[in-house]
Amino acid sequence: MRSIIIYHSWTGNTKQIASAIHSGIKEIFDKCDITPMKDVDINKLKDYDLIGLGSFVQTFQEPVPVTDFVNAMPDLTGRYGFTFCTHGTCAGSYIERMVKGLRGKGITVTGWNDWYGAGFIPLMPKPYYTDGHPDKIDLKEAIEFGKEIAQRSQKIASGEIKLIPELPVKEEYEKLYGAVMDLGSRDDMADLVKLKPVHNPDKCLYPKCTKCMDNCPTKSIDLSESPKINYNTCGPCMVWLCEQLCPTGAMEVNWDIADNMMNTMTSIFKRLAEPMEEYKELRRFRSLITGEEGSGTPLYKKQRRPKLIIRDGVIRES
Ligand SMILES: Cc1cc2nc3c(=O)[nH]c(=O)nc-3n(C[C@H](O)[C@H](O)[C@H](O)COP(=O)(O)O)c2cc1C
Repeated sequence: MRSIIIYHSWTGNTKQIASAIHSGIKEIFDKCDITPMKDVDINKLKDYDLIGLGSFVQTFQEPVPVTDFVNAMPDLTGRYGFTFCTHGTCAGSYIERMVKGLRGKGITVTGWNDWYGAGFIPLMPKPYYTDGHPDKIDLKEAIEFGKEIAQRSQKIASGEIKLIPELPVKEEYEKLYGAVMDLGSRDDMADLVKLKPVHNPDKCLYPKCTKCMDNCPTKSIDLSESPKINYNTCGPCMVWLCEQLCPTGAMEVNWDIADNMMNTMTSIFKRLAEPMEEYKELRRFRSLITGEEGSGTPLYKKQRRPKLIIRDGVIRES
């Protein structure tokens, strides 16, 4: 089967899992392409028999660019596919939405899988429950998954259609992946919208530096324009990448507001983590952190600049 793995990854967790799945598939098919989603020529997808699409989970589902990618896919009837993701404590509707999205394009979905990944949201209490993942055990599991999915897809393609998996029913699904929490309806989250970046021209290195505008997830910054930030589309992106990547502190966020929100954030993350203990076996969770969750320093409090850097397309702590 001609196969390809497509991944969307910010901090490299999903990229690592994608390459491990890739190694597994290559053990069965000899050859398998692998590429970041942004480099995919959507019109060439028809050349493949097996398409694997994976991403990180963002706000309990796939990130918007992934939804857009699936929507833009041509009809791929007759092809086989699978999805995978990395996530924190609650993958929510990711698997269901992606399986349905791929099926909507005519793809026969032959499987899916998920892994834990370290988190880097600036307001995330640190250490965060899933920090340290993916580790060697996760990567080994992903290689095995690659082998299995290649073999299963081959069998399904040769007529063993009883091997086509069904999504778990709602109750079972939520035990496995967690129920989506409606954060927008919480009064105690109202201050989040006040955490908007403000541009300080005295500190800005533009046009020598364009990191904030190049990496804004919502494309809300244009330093050549006035106003420089489009507040209709800006935030809260929950990552404040402009502030985190700025080498001089020219993108200013009033983190005093965040200080007042940390109790709320900690309690939300705690609530999301509760079913992790209850369904530990089912969710294959292994804690890799030492010390108590939330006892460390959240990323937004770090003083050094830049707080984050991007190397080889991957966002890392500086
Ligand atoms: C803005 C943002 C929102 C996130 N939302 C969720 C979420 O709803 N549920 C979850 O389990 N993890 C969530 N995460 C955690 C990521 O899915 C996790 O860290 C993932 O492994 C990152 O993958 P990457 O390294 O490939 O970018 C979120 C991360 C970010 C940055």
